[in-house]
Amino acid sequence: MENLSLDEAKRRAAAAALKIVTPGMRLGLGTGSTAAHFIDLLGAKVAEGLKVVCVPTSERTRIQAEGLAIPLATFEEIDELDLTIDGADEFDPDLRLVKGGGGALWREKIVAAASKRMIVITDASKAVATLGKFPLPIEVSRFGLEATRRAILREAEACGCGGPVVLRKTPSGEAFMTDSGNYLFDCVFNVIPAADELAQRLSAIPGIVEHGLFIGLAKAVISASPEEIKIYGQLD
Ligand code: A5P
Repeated sequence: MENLSLDEAKRRAAAAALKIVTPGMRLGLGTGSTAAHFIDLLGAKVAEGLKVVCVPTSERTRIQAEGLAIPLATFEEIDELDLTIDGADEFDPDLRLVKGGGGALWREKIVAAASKRMIVITDASKAVATLGKFPLPIEVSRFGLEATRRAILREAEACGCGGPVVLRKTPSGEAFMTDSGNYLFDCVFNVIPAADELAQRLSAIPGIVEHGLFIGLAKAVISASPEEIKIYGQLD
């Protein structure tokens, strides 16, 4: 798929997700280029009179939504979300996801976990048989960085994963900082043969704020290519 088609596929997946949105819904708004299409289309519906209230998963998304006059709220004001629409870097046949390519995985996971349903929107290139081709993002505390890196390597090895655990940098060479002021490791494993076990082991490492394995959260994936839209899982 060339880039134009890729972007068109993302927009088609976003448009398909918009059809699930009904008046009065409390929505989680994801982060990334595919979620940005959804927010854009949602903004047009809000301008036409659709009533929704949304919780953004990043400062980037908050700014986009505010620019479109989409009503926003916090978890101090809303106890539960009806639906979260977010992108993913990879998904497998069990709807397990790798997320965090855009650096927002912690807030994305908080929002997804507070939602009755999480529906993922992607272009078709994100479908994989086994997770891991996309480097697994892990949000970590700045304190104890090397201890955390060693612990990740140890737990990953126990799950059959190997490869560099790389501190994410900005284009100007600074350490990338998340919206919450943490650093990110990108784990270049290429293949994650036991994603459930790795997720559990990573969650037990104190220096890890959150990892980018989303397991048991997505109810469905809407995956679009220029030719077709495929639905994996159940939309309702
Ligand atoms: C943001 O932190 C990520 O989890 C995104 O959802 C993921 O990177 C997908 O991004 P794109 O929609 O830009 O591919």
